[in-house]
Amino acid sequence: IPTRYGEGMKILVTGGAGFIGSHTVLLLQQAGHDVTVVDNLSNSSPVALRRVAELSGREVPFVRADIRDRGAMDLLLDEVRPDGVVHFAGMKAVGESAQIPLTYYENNVAGTITLLRAMEAVDCRTIVFSSSATVYGEVDEMPLGEKLPLDAVNPYGRTKEQVEDILSDVADSDERWNVALLRYFNPVGAHPSGRIGEDPNGIPNNLMPFVAQVAVGRREKLMVFGDDYPTPDGTGVRDYIHVMDLSDGHVAAIEYLAQHGGLHRWNLGTGRGYSVLEVRAAFERASGRPIPYEVVPRRPGDVAVSYADPSSALADLGWAATRDIDEMCADHWRWQEQNPYGYAGAPKD
Ligand code: NAD
Ligand code: WQD
Repeated sequence: IPTRYGEGMKILVTGGAGFIGSHTVLLLQQAGHDVTVVDNLSNSSPVALRRVAELSGREVPFVRADIRDRGAMDLLLDEVRPDGVVHFAGMKAVGESAQIPLTYYENNVAGTITLLRAMEAVDCRTIVFSSSATVYGEVDEMPLGEKLPLDAVNPYGRTKEQVEDILSDVADSDERWNVALLRYFNPVGAHPSGRIGEDPNGIPNNLMPFVAQVAVGRREKLMVFGDDYPTPDGTGVRDYIHVMDLSDGHVAAIEYLAQHGGLHRWNLGTGRGYSVLEVRAAFERASGRPIPYEVVPRRPGDVAVSYADPSSALADLGWAATRDIDEMCADHWRWQEQNPYGYAGAPKD
């Protein structure tokens, strides 16, 4: 990789204390890159980064700052002078985005513009962006391929769609920009050590964290949002992807950009879907705990089925997910069982 620091690249990771960010920081360090994290800790704990350091055996330089703060970002970028940025920072709760849309547009869209300005000021024009399969909206034909038109159906999804548009306009305007738009499907699981994982605040919005909290005894039962979808068992089908596979995809993407440049859109999914009841059954097997459930009405805005065509990432990056649903559940369970109350419940370490 052509960089100014020999072996590895110097990489700034925004939102690096979060769920996907913390796993990606670890894998970037293990791949020999020099990582600095910026995060405002609005949805994460500094304990996550201490544990990443413990796993990698390397320090994780960390700056607590908000990507919307131009002054702070200018200082940081000037000090770090990264070769590239992996940009996770943002807010991600679909329901909340309809309650406080301006906060979502400020953090996700305006925050990204501020980051891009601070990057160009120090001549850094390589960015990997966390987009989402939610940008496809409601589509009947599966699998979802990158050439489909974008049609997000909620404010959160529209922030991702808008940032994709902004980044693609910026890349079109100046060929020095290198951009990867990574569309994640449903990230789950945890590092196999059980030391880092997803630690949602309050009641989890997403299926696997909720299931895991039922298994560990924090919640009484799973609410299955509808069993009358046109799917084999009537429950919603999604493309769950192990966070370690997803994080590997980021390492591959930034290394690709450093070598080849350009603007790219890559789905990161496994290409196969599992229903809510299949996930519940897999988690019962992995945990050995019963997961009682009750069917309740559909959640507004949910689609019946969503899964990726991940063939472009394979063709371009040589990347494919390798971990199956049993491994996703086993690793998620190890994290949940060892940290029943997440990082806050952890003893001082
Ligand atoms: P997360 O909330 O765990 O991580 C996001 C991190 O960004 C948090 O540590 C948070 O404190 C930080 N942050 C938020 N706003 C910030 C700001 N203004 N300045 C600085 N830091 C800020 O979420 P995650 O699951 O790790 O998701 C990471 C990214 O991937 C997000 O952009 C999210 O939208 C996207 N994504 C997530 C999923 C998913 O299901 N988890 C799916 C598709 C896309
Ligand atoms: C999965 C399935 C639910 C919870 C969301 C965002 C998406 C992306 C990933 C960020 C669905 C069902 C869920 C529960 C249930 N995030 N379910 N009971 O909705 O596919 O995607 O997270 O980018 O943008 O929309 O994921 O985990 O919420 O739901 O029955 O308590 O589980 O109906 O079929 P979703 P999810």
